[in-house]
Amino acid sequence: MKLVLGISGASGAPYTKRLLTLLREPALAAQVSVEIVLSRTAGEVWALECGGHPSDAGFPVYEGRDYRAPFASGSARRDAMLILPASMSCIARIAHGVSDDLLTRAADVTLKERRPLVVVPRESPYSSIHLENMLALTRAGALVVPASPSFYGMPATLEALLDTVLARVLDHLGVEHALGKRWGDAADKVKES
Ligand SMILES: Cc1cc2nc3c(=O)[nH]c(=O)nc-3n(C[C@H](O)[C@H](O)[C@H](O)COP(=O)(O)O)c2cc1C
Repeated sequence: MKLVLGISGASGAPYTKRLLTLLREPALAAQVSVEIVLSRTAGEVWALECGGHPSDAGFPVYEGRDYRAPFASGSARRDAMLILPASMSCIARIAHGVSDDLLTRAADVTLKERRPLVVVPRESPYSSIHLENMLALTRAGALVVPASPSFYGMPATLEALLDTVLARVLDHLGVEHALGKRWGDAADKVKES
């Protein structure tokens, strides 16, 4: 799978950093090739939350208004796009067709080409504007997968907690993974009996 990974200026860089670590592991690297596109604020938030820069992960990085990037056009074949995390600003612009940077253009292309677009929003609380924009994206074919970790698998570390969200993201992108326990797994059945 050729995946375009958009990183916008919402809180949540630890999710993305963890995903990039996982995507370097052989089982996932064999399935997914990654190109990163940064919004104007992504690097600033990443530095505050993780230190360093998204380019440290070693994947190709594009940013700004570099519309010469291949995935700025539908004629370049990419299989899916993930925006993790997705700010309310970038969601608003995508929902209204405003392609004012490469990230929003890539999302616009993904939707018009009817390719999978998975968006992981982060804001709290949501205003009606946020909710209506997420509804517009959903109606246009995107899948909104909130950064809402789950606890029923009793995650004992921050990484395990992040993985409860990343597992759902990878599921919806169609990437095989072994993150966390699934409800109804053998271990749960043993515990129940
Ligand atoms: C440290 C930090 C955390 C932020 N967290 C959020 C957030 O969780 N959600 C959000 O929608 N915006 C958040 N923002 C504001 C966005 O970065 C800002 O609205 C920006 O214009 C988003 O545009 P971009 O995603 O295109 O970079 C945050 C900004 C900073 C500096």
